[in-house]
Amino acid sequence: MILTTELPAHAGAIERLLDTAFGPKRKAKTVYRLRRGIAPVADLCMVALDDEAPGYSAAQPRLVASIRYWPVMAADGTMTLMLGPIAVAEDYRSAGLGGQLIRASLARAEALGYESVLLVGDAPYYNRFGFTRGPVLGLKLPGPVELDRFLGLEFVPGSLSKAQGMLGRAASRTVTPATATAAPATGDAGVAKLARPRRRAVR
Ligand SMILES: CC(C)(COP(=O)(O)OP(=O)(O)OC[C@H]1O[C@@H](n2cnc3c(N)ncnc32)[C@H](O)[C@@H]1OP(=O)(O)O)[C@@H](O)C(=O)NCCC(=O)NCCS
Repeated sequence: MILTTELPAHAGAIERLLDTAFGPKRKAKTVYRLRRGIAPVADLCMVALDDEAPGYSAAQPRLVASIRYWPVMAADGTMTLMLGPIAVAEDYRSAGLGGQLIRASLARAEALGYESVLLVGDAPYYNRFGFTRGPVLGLKLPGPVELDRFLGLEFVPGSLSKAQGMLGRAASRTVTPATATAAPATGDAGVAKLARPRRRAVR
């Protein structure tokens, strides 16, 4: 199993994975209003590739998980990142892959100098990575959302909790942090070779 940076060639398999995980109406969700017409943050978008999956090979591995991030900006000008979507193929779930993708991409974001991340997702899952309601209490989303699913994480204390107002779209380059010191994690430097998760029966 390889965790690596998403490439353009992965786009088709990611769309199929997301359609299966979230259903065909996923793009009607409020969070998609913040993604429309905006490129994701390429350095933080990662995939898991299984080069030992039956019928696949090292040259043509199976794409079994994806995580993406978008830049967003609050009405007061605070720049942050929005995590999501993340999806793991059903027959690869509960083996730690989702957690590894989240931790690896958050580590990249912090190393690149980003100060915070927010998301809309299930708190019982995201709490374990440090996401809570506190940092986003001053923020609003541009559409209906269950508030207990709107969560944030600060790498720099206070960087998100001071933010106020409606979230809107932001061009990727505008949130590229001025303090970034790490090189973008691409190519071999961005590849982690992992033990293949133990398969579980589809639930
Ligand atoms: C959510 C998801 C990405 C997790 O991936 P994963 O590889 O199974 O995650 P991990 O193996 O790191 O963690 C699995 C654990 O999280 C739990 N978990 C998964 N989704 C959860 C949720 N929505 N709420 C609470 N717990 C959840 C599982 O029950 C499992 O617990 P266990 O280890 O006690 O069995 C995956 O289930 C998925 O793709 N789901 C469909 C798409 C989706 O809902 N994406 C997230 C949007 S909020």
